[in-house]
Amino acid sequence: MDIRTLPEAERQIYNRIRDRYSLLFDSLRVGEHTVRLLKVADIEEMLDGKDPFADVSEFPFWIKLWEAAMVLAYAVTKLPDPKGKSMLELGAGLGAPGLAAAACGFDVTLSDYEDIIMDFQRVSAAASKLDRVQFQHLDWLAPPELPAFDYLIAAEVLFREEFFAPLLNVFDQYLKPGGRILLAHDARRKCLPLFLEEAKKDFHITISSQKLKKFGEPITIIFNQLRRKGD
Ligand SMILES: C[S@@+](CC[C@H](N)C(=O)[O-])C[C@H]1O[C@@H](n2cnc3c(N)ncnc32)[C@H](O)[C@@H]1O
Repeated sequence: MDIRTLPEAERQIYNRIRDRYSLLFDSLRVGEHTVRLLKVADIEEMLDGKDPFADVSEFPFWIKLWEAAMVLAYAVTKLPDPKGKSMLELGAGLGAPGLAAAACGFDVTLSDYEDIIMDFQRVSAAASKLDRVQFQHLDWLAPPELPAFDYLIAAEVLFREEFFAPLLNVFDQYLKPGGRILLAHDARRKCLPLFLEEAKKDFHITISSQKLKKFGEPITIIFNQLRRKGD
């Protein structure tokens, strides 16, 4: 990726981030489109084989592109009729699923509560020539007023029980009648079944899984679709 091809504003953002992190662009093929994803270059080195979920207070979660996000990115490309449909990605981090959806034609808003990661998203969107993506600072604990969306999507957001009630509230606030929520999580996340049990009171939930290999080790990603009861 030639940084000189970025628009001036995003080039400045890129240079600001580069002062703090060594960077690289990953490519994600979405149909005819290639999404360019700005990432921190030495993340696996930083992790050094440790599971970051072992100590959630220590790790800047937004920094890594989680395998679940890749599965979700693929899933959104299979959704029908993107034209005119709005989609909000919650806890988007690097924003691969949302950017993939934007490449397919959805009207996408990427959100997170870490402003630094939204700078990564802005550069990635510009590098991918996706100029209609919106960016929204959104803390699940203090969700702002926003119009409702046809789709809410999220990967690896259920890692603390204290997020259950705020996230259910966020789902309720931002999902249009008849809308769908797509979630993807590593099967090792202990919180996920507990959350789904809670969510079952208000949503019909489907579940499927996909097996991947990470450094030769098998991992399973759980994929859920939620639809409001009564819709
Ligand atoms: C494990 S990361 C997953 C990132 C991305 N979805 C992925 O799968 O690659 C969790 C994300 O949730 C965001 N997050 C954590 N607490 C949040 C909150 N209270 N409100 C909004 N986002 C939050 C973090 O900044 C981070 O980007």
